[in-house]
Amino acid sequence: MRKVLVLGGTGWLGHEIARQAVADGADVTCLARGSTGGAPEGAALVRSDRTRPGAYDAVARVDHEWDEVVELATTPGLVEGALDALAARARHWTLVSSVSVHARDDEPGADESAELVAVGERPDDAAPDLYAQQKAWAERTSAARLGDRLLVVRPSLVVGPGDPSDRFGHWPARMLRGGRMLVPTTEGRWAQVIDVADLAAWVVLAGRDRLLGAFTAAGEPVPLAEVIEEARVASGTDVELVAVDDAWLLEHDVRWWAGPRSLPLWLPLEASGFARRSTAAFRAAGGTTRPLAETMTRVRHDEIARGVDRPRRAGLTPDEEAALLRERAS
Ligand SMILES: NC(=O)c1ccc[n+]([C@@H]2O[C@H](COP(=O)([O-])OP(=O)(O)OC[C@H]3O[C@@H](n4cnc5c(N)ncnc54)[C@H](OP(=O)(O)O)[C@@H]3O)[C@@H](O)[C@H]2O)c1
Repeated sequence: MRKVLVLGGTGWLGHEIARQAVADGADVTCLARGSTGGAPEGAALVRSDRTRPGAYDAVARVDHEWDEVVELATTPGLVEGALDALAARARHWTLVSSVSVHARDDEPGADESAELVAVGERPDDAAPDLYAQQKAWAERTSAARLGDRLLVVRPSLVVGPGDPSDRFGHWPARMLRGGRMLVPTTEGRWAQVIDVADLAAWVVLAGRDRLLGAFTAAGEPVPLAEVIEEARVASGTDVELVAVDDAWLLEHDVRWWAGPRSLPLWLPLEASGFARRSTAAFRAAGGTTRPLAETMTRVRHDEIARGVDRPRRAGLTPDEEAALLRERAS
């Protein structure tokens, strides 16, 4: 039986990878503290804090050989500790990286060979604003330690039920509330997403096939207007879209892309290459993605189940949006 070790597996994507690996017939172990959640049914959870000495002892004994290790961490300390303990015991290693590693976002159609962000010294573990550098460092260090046993998966925005970032779900959830709705102008704007279930399926497949190299794991780019329209169709409610230009939104402290007081997925026009990366290699390697409408329906159900009025990690609150709309009308 194929032995798979997921470094993580209690978070959103890691849990789905572990779940699908179990369904694929693998013997799956997840290593995590267990503070984010549990491991999926059928997988073993080894509780361990990877910042502590001996964190990998239970999975790195001399008699341990792993057919596949899946690394979901970003911080250099965790990535390096796992390589130290486990690189010699893994036949194949999948590092979940990100399209954020690329240095430029203004080259639509760029593939995996596009330049990466510069990384000198090992980036600080406690610097979330260095996410791109941490991921690029993880790629470089993992390649140096694993050579021809490494697969690097660079997902675009991961979306689907249970998304803890609340970004993509903003659109169907907001539509479900109806009324007048603030949107950015959509001309020249794109989105590129991958459903968490499609990404996990490919990670499992690629691990089983011992695929090597770096891959952008993403669906086809779609105009942002199409995402908003699909959200409207999925919600079935009546909304009046109020499109506002970038300068006005920025003047009123509305943030790009993610987080509080943002319009999720909204990016500067000059960064439209971020959401228009080539997926040719991913598709040639067996990557498949479901239609956007199907993902939207899944997310709509999830948003209803979690409550569209719950506090969110991304988007405008109803009060913020109402105040902005009043200001716009005055
Ligand atoms: N969301 C996106 O759009 C997107 C896009 C591109 C790439 N990605 C990448 O996709 C991956 C997402 O992974 P994910 O959703 O499974 O979750 P995550 O929130 O990144 O989870 C990290 C995992 O590591 C574990 N962990 C954290 N600190 C730990 C410690 N000190 N010791 C042991 N375990 C620790 C967590 O479990 P415990 O808390 O239980 O320990 C959890 O299982 C990340 O690599 C992310 O960078 C995401």
